[in-house]
Amino acid sequence: MSLEQAIEAARRRRQRVLAAMGDGVMVLSTAPERVRNRDTHHPYRYDSYFHYLSAFPEPEAVLVLVAGDTPRQFLFCREKNEEREVWDGFRFGPEAAAARFGFDEARPVAELDERMSELLADRPVLHYLLGDDPAWDGRVMGWLNAVRGKARTGVTAPSRIVDARAMLDEMRLIKDAYEIELMDRAAAVSAVAHRQAMAVCRPGLHEYEVEAELLRVFRAGGCAAPAYPPIVAGGAHACVLHYVANDQPLNAGDLLLIDAAGEFAGYAADITRTFPVSGRFEPAQRDAYQLVLAAQAAAIGAVRPGNAWNAPHEAALRLLTQGMVDLKLLAGDVDGLIEREAYKRFYMHRTGHWLGRDVHDAGEYKLNGQWRPFVPGMTLTVEPGIYIRPADDVPEALWNIGIRIEDDVLVTEAGCRVLTEAAPKTVTEIEELMRHG
Ligand code: GLY
Ligand code: MN
Ligand code: MN
Repeated sequence: MSLEQAIEAARRRRQRVLAAMGDGVMVLSTAPERVRNRDTHHPYRYDSYFHYLSAFPEPEAVLVLVAGDTPRQFLFCREKNEEREVWDGFRFGPEAAAARFGFDEARPVAELDERMSELLADRPVLHYLLGDDPAWDGRVMGWLNAVRGKARTGVTAPSRIVDARAMLDEMRLIKDAYEIELMDRAAAVSAVAHRQAMAVCRPGLHEYEVEAELLRVFRAGGCAAPAYPPIVAGGAHACVLHYVANDQPLNAGDLLLIDAAGEFAGYAADITRTFPVSGRFEPAQRDAYQLVLAAQAAAIGAVRPGNAWNAPHEAALRLLTQGMVDLKLLAGDVDGLIEREAYKRFYMHRTGHWLGRDVHDAGEYKLNGQWRPFVPGMTLTVEPGIYIRPADDVPEALWNIGIRIEDDVLVTEAGCRVLTEAAPKTVTEIEELMRHG
């Protein structure tokens, strides 16, 4: 997990991009720093695509790959600046950045506009992240116009602009051994955080006190930040899918749904666990919980090479819908209820998504209109749930129960491997851990 490994991985990826690009040019900018209020910034997070191909962590940096017979790799970055480095910390500066990160040339980022009209001259195709940021789109158009302005000197501008996502998303979808190591770390730290949340939870605590335990474990485990805003939702709040206020007291007799995970070296985990605030499931809670757990087992069982992306969702839906009938939430035959999407009243989201650098990671879900097949190296979440709001036609014992169980799964040759197994999820494991801390 050294910077050297990240640099080497990025170098290999740039070679693949250069080989695939023909005579094209690819330009990727990292994320801007964002003001939080007045002169205070949000914690900095680089752009996932830029970092995938550069491993370069600083803001104000742009990667330019020029393919062809003599491929060239450029980095534009901040200059060394003794005064700023005293205030804000180390900067590589172009010279050290080129040497350390393996670029043919690195230049001050202030030279970008001037150099781009030269680098785009006589290049047929420009690849960049179209529509990511209107200001960046405008800047790219400025370069094209600058090249067109030189037409009478015999220079031509790119006539095709290609969304770089098409190529990069397919690469990012299949994780290599190094990426899987990082995802294992993110998963392991996040699983410990969930164990800790179960160990400390008791009635009378506030949701944010449990959130604080999660954040402490993420950071202590080397995660830069949570991979997304943690959801710590007691009782009825669990039926709000993106509840993030996390400011209410936890009540005996309620369930607590926690959807939280850390980001390690740029890779996300994404775990949800649901458990009783006071450590023992009530009978109705247990019935609903066992249903979601069985649906998750069926969905994970459907993750294997060759199966379609939708197979886990369909497996989960069948069990959940049958369970909704058994719990008297729905009436009718299961096929008809699935056909009519009657389950959506209690299960309104899908069973998973790609996972990687971004919590909802890059990659298409369909190819040519068909759900794509799983391939070894893909990583995804499997996260069925049930969310039951109070209503006259709903058995009262089930009111305000919200349950989701979410794990991170790697597709392997043999089937799949659950990366987040260390977070307890059977009723026995949870009750045992909460009894003994
Ligand atoms: N935590 C976001 C999700 O589960 O998709
Ligand atoms: Mn998820
Ligand atoms: Mn989640």
